[in-house]
Formats: sequence, C-alpha cells, structure tokens
Amino acid sequence: MVLNMNNGVFITFEGGEGSGKSTQIQLLKDYFEKEGKSVLLTREPGGSAGAEEIRSLLLKGGTDRWDKKTEMLLFTAARRDHLIKKIFPALSEGKIILSDRFQDSTVAYQCFGYGYDESIFHDAKALYQFIAGDFKPNITIVLDIDPKIGLSRSIKRQGNDEQRFENMDFSFHENIRKAFLTLAQSEPNRFIVVDANQPIQAIHEEIVSKLKEKMNA
Ligand code: TYD
Repeated sequence: MVLNMNNGVFITFEGGEGSGKSTQIQLLKDYFEKEGKSVLLTREPGGSAGAEEIRSLLLKGGTDRWDKKTEMLLFTAARRDHLIKKIFPALSEGKIILSDRFQDSTVAYQCFGYGYDESIFHDAKALYQFIAGDFKPNITIVLDIDPKIGLSRSIKRQGNDEQRFENMDFSFHENIRKAFLTLAQSEPNRFIVVDANQPIQAIHEEIVSKLKEKMNA
C-alpha cells in the first residue's frame, strides 16, 4: 500500500485499558508535524460535538447501565456523527487523522468482551457497513499489553468518572486483548502490533519504523 499523503490518511490506535495510546498518539502527532504534515488528533467515542455527548452516556454510570444492543447502537451513532462531521472532511483536506480508537474497539469490546457473541459480531459488521460502507482505516496500530499491567496503570491514573469499562471483570479485559490480536492476524496489511510493555521512546520508534514500512510497501 503506497499511501499518497496528499490524499489524507486515516490511522487508528487500539488497545486495552492503560496501553499508553494517548501518550503514543501525541508523540506520533508531534513527529508528523515536525515533518510539516497537517494532523488531526481525535478520539472515540467522541471526536465531534454530538458524539462527545453520546460519550458521556456510554462511559459514565454502572457496568450494567446499557444492554449490549443499546450500547452497540450508541457507539455506532457516535461513530456516524464523528465520520460525517470530522473524519471525512479532514480526509478531503488531505490531513493525517490519528484516532484514539475506532470500529475495532466495537468488535473487541462489544463482540468479544463479554465472551464471543456471533450474532452481535454479525450485527456489528452490518451496522458498520450501514454507517460507513466500505470505508476503513488505512492503518491500525494495536498497543498490546497484559491487562494486569494495563489496568493497574489506568485505574491509578484516572481520577475521573469515565470508568464503566475499566470496572468490567478481569476476563473481559483478557478477551479484549485476544480479540485485538485476532483482528490483527486476520488483516495483516492494515494492522501493526507493538508490545506496549516497553519504554515510551522505544514504543514510539517501533511505531514510526513499522509505519514507514507499511506506507512504502
Ligand atoms: P477512554 O477513557 O477513552 O479509555 P481509553 O483511554 O482506554 O481509550 O474510554 C473509552 C472506553 O470505551 C474504553 O474503555 C473502550 C470503550 N469502547 C468500547 O467499548 N467500544 C467502542 O467502540 C469504543 C470506541 C470504545
């Protein structure tokens, strides 16, 4: 995939809780900006005004606040708003978009988190097709970490009330890790997997070198 940086590039970051996505996404933004590129940093759920409102419905409250299907619909509605209001316009302006999570999080969390649910998996695919057609990220970077390490980092760090998913059972987080690795294996052209249990700078350098490889492959 030789990516033409003049057409805009959509790069997503995925991983479990406390995998260090926000640190790495910021370092990558700085790296591209030093190269003179125009970068849009965004996140899911959220990223646009409407989707940020949906975000607080999703991330606050008890673990059983929503049933699985309602939860999936809320994530999907937020994603549609984000695509239309932010991602598509930025792509047409030729920007590099770095998104902290996207559709692969829905597959990992909503379809595999509570134990693999085949019917939800098919529904998730259909819903994604409904809101995005054949559109996909150009590259997805998975920061892979043992959830024991990741969770202890993220629970320590966050003094906020957006902890609905951190509070799920430990097995939920193990399922998510496996799901991201399985997704990465199934689409090796799109995915980059990086061991997130390394020093920050080493992770950044690995991301940059794997990205360069992919962009010129
Ligand atoms: P956030 O505080 O941004 O967590 P993190 O720093 O780990 O990204 O909260 C996002 C939470 O929402 C996170 O626990 C993953 C979850 N999530 C889903 O369950 N499905 C999705 O489709 C997305 C985008 C996020």
